[in-house]
Amino acid sequence: MKNIRPITDVSRPKVYIETYGCQMNVNDSEVILSLLEDDGYALTENIGEASLILANTCSIRDNAEQRIWGRIEQFRLQKERRPGVVVGIVGCMAERLKEKLLDSHVVDVVAGPDSYRSLPELVRSAAPGAPQMNVELSREETYADITPVRMDKNGVTAFISIMRGCNNVCSYCVVPYTRGVERSREPGTIVREAAELFANGYREVNLLGQNVDSYLWKDPVSADRDVNFAQLLEMVAKISPDLRVRFSTSHPKDISDEVIYTMAMYDNICKHIHLPVQSGSNAMLAKMRRKYTREWYLGRVEKIRSVMPDCGLSTDIIAGFCGETQEDHLDTLSLMEEVKFDSAFMFQYSERPGTLAARKYPDDVPPDVKTARLNEIIALQNRLSRESNEKEIGKVFRVLVEGVSKRNDSELFGRTGSNKVCVFPAGGHRPGDYVEVKVLSCTSATLVSGLV
Ligand code: SAH
Ligand code: SF4
Ligand code: F3S
Repeated sequence: MKNIRPITDVSRPKVYIETYGCQMNVNDSEVILSLLEDDGYALTENIGEASLILANTCSIRDNAEQRIWGRIEQFRLQKERRPGVVVGIVGCMAERLKEKLLDSHVVDVVAGPDSYRSLPELVRSAAPGAPQMNVELSREETYADITPVRMDKNGVTAFISIMRGCNNVCSYCVVPYTRGVERSREPGTIVREAAELFANGYREVNLLGQNVDSYLWKDPVSADRDVNFAQLLEMVAKISPDLRVRFSTSHPKDISDEVIYTMAMYDNICKHIHLPVQSGSNAMLAKMRRKYTREWYLGRVEKIRSVMPDCGLSTDIIAGFCGETQEDHLDTLSLMEEVKFDSAFMFQYSERPGTLAARKYPDDVPPDVKTARLNEIIALQNRLSRESNEKEIGKVFRVLVEGVSKRNDSELFGRTGSNKVCVFPAGGHRPGDYVEVKVLSCTSATLVSGLV
């Protein structure tokens, strides 16, 4: 069984892995570790003893890439101190920048998100002056047969990638270029992976895709046996009532009533939807090529809440997209007020080379205006998050214990089904237990609770 943390073995070469970007990258690093363990490597958390240093990178915004360039300079120091150390840049930035990464004269291996099976060979072949690269994208690769080696610390919650790539072409987004076309993973391998995790003590799986609502497994024999996302959710939920199921990310244009009803039918499917809106302005949504309107989005929210009144809702918002006017910005603020999101990830627009927006629309909102708008969005969301949490005071929730609270080691933390973080006294409970807690007070980020 490989889903347990590896025991470090003194005789084996060591790999050190840093992961940036989204949850899919976290899961990809676990796939990479599985492949490298099979090749004789052991994981280390100490960069100073690693013979192989890997950064699994993100290109979503310019600052994500700048951070990696900074890390590459740190890796240079490791190589100066310990000649022979191999440095690999993998993931989205590897795919986007390709041989440009070699200009640093630090990087020995460049591998894109679909070429991890060749990583052991690339590392073996890399030599001073002979860097190795594979940035081939694939139409089929889903790593379906690989059991990721879990690097999480808690042994309770795990990510499972159910698909790769993206077929939407949101005009601002680099993901379709770094991850290639969308493909869905065979459902049997997903259910098997989730069942194995449960058998190993895990109590929550998070099914990942850039747009889970377009998950579709086409059965090679009969179209009657095709599996859509709602059906996949049900298959995973049926593994055990004690295995909680989450998923991310839902796309407002694609989330179906069938998914919403399936969520409502199973107590162990967490009542939380991450539904990125990006903007509240129809003009911006059209330019972003999101393929829905403000009214459509609000309609989906209404449907979700009519079926599941207590469903948690979170979102992503981009401030200062090309041509965004003050009115467009006010539309975003008013949509946030209307929906009352429980939480949000909020960003300033960052132009990505090669995207449709970079080719067609000038990045013309001045940086200070972008920052001011983002700050208004953040301030509003802080208020909405606090108000949303205040409504929970006095309520009782079933929470899955994930670990010891960072602030106080006599307290534990866990999440409600709606994805709110609770802290509460340990009371003899352990990670992996389900506990009932009553909310006593809150901040905008946490529900301070007591055991019931
Ligand atoms: N597949 C998901 C999003 C993945 S990227 C979806 O469609 O919702 C995560 C978030 O990063 C996006 O939702 C968006 O809010 C943000 N993002 C993507 N490209 C960006 C860019 N060029 N500038 C700023 N934020 C961006
Ligand atoms: Fe990017 Fe749009 Fe695909 Fe999300 S759905 S990954 S924002 S292109
Ligand atoms: Fe970043 Fe790639 Fe994820 S660009 S957000 S790591 S898909």
